Amino acid sequence: MSVFEIIQRRRSIGKMTEQRPTRQQIEHLIEAATHAPNHHKVEPWKFIVLAGKARAELGQVMADALVQRLEENPFDKAEALINKERNKLLRSPVVIVAVAVPPRQPKVLEIENIEAVAAAVENRLLAAEEMGLACMWRTGDAAYDPRVKRWLGLEPEDHIVAFVYVGFPSIPKLERHPTSAEEKTTWLGWEEDEFSRM
Ligand SMILES: Cc1cc2nc3c(=O)[nH]c(=O)nc-3n(C[C@H](O)[C@H](O)[C@H](O)COP(=O)(O)O)c2cc1C
Repeated sequence: MSVFEIIQRRRSIGKMTEQRPTRQQIEHLIEAATHAPNHHKVEPWKFIVLAGKARAELGQVMADALVQRLEENPFDKAEALINKERNKLLRSPVVIVAVAVPPRQPKVLEIENIEAVAAAVENRLLAAEEMGLACMWRTGDAAYDPRVKRWLGLEPEDHIVAFVYVGFPSIPKLERHPTSAEEKTTWLGWEEDEFSRM
């Protein structure tokens, strides 16, 4: 398969079997991420792999964090929401947390570190597609909650760019046809003869 075909075929798959990918497969996905472009070569990423009971432990932290957020903003169906939050990470056998660290040098822009980690996550999704694995990039309020970051050993200034759910697909991919590139693109100066301006 060409890279272009893999890009076209990749789709989020939210439902996975309980079968855990091998350690080698997860390491391969992480390595793919580390080849992403990054400005000033700062490699602004950290990855945390959650499997087994670590998913339930973080799920409990996410549920407790949600309870505290709801105290500030009460909501009718809170209990169902809290239960859902507790079980979220159990939707796949492995979850890789992709983190962008803040800049350490003045010339490095924070947004560019986040962009580089987003590119790293996409590399991972494409590598997973090639390997026949199911993947889903998720965030949600938990990704921005300092209590969740603390449990993961992160600083409040670190950014959780993605919870990448990884496993084997248990449902077919949903079809999605993106808006045409033509509609999203403006061409400037393309019709001009470059040499006529010289
Ligand atoms: C920054 C980011 C955050 C996302 N967070 C979620 C999420 O919290 N829940 C979810 O179901 N999908 C999430 N997604 C996945 C998108 O819903 C999905 O990519 C989109 O529907 C397009 O479908 P496709 O990936 O199958 O092409 C996220 C994607 C990105 C890029």
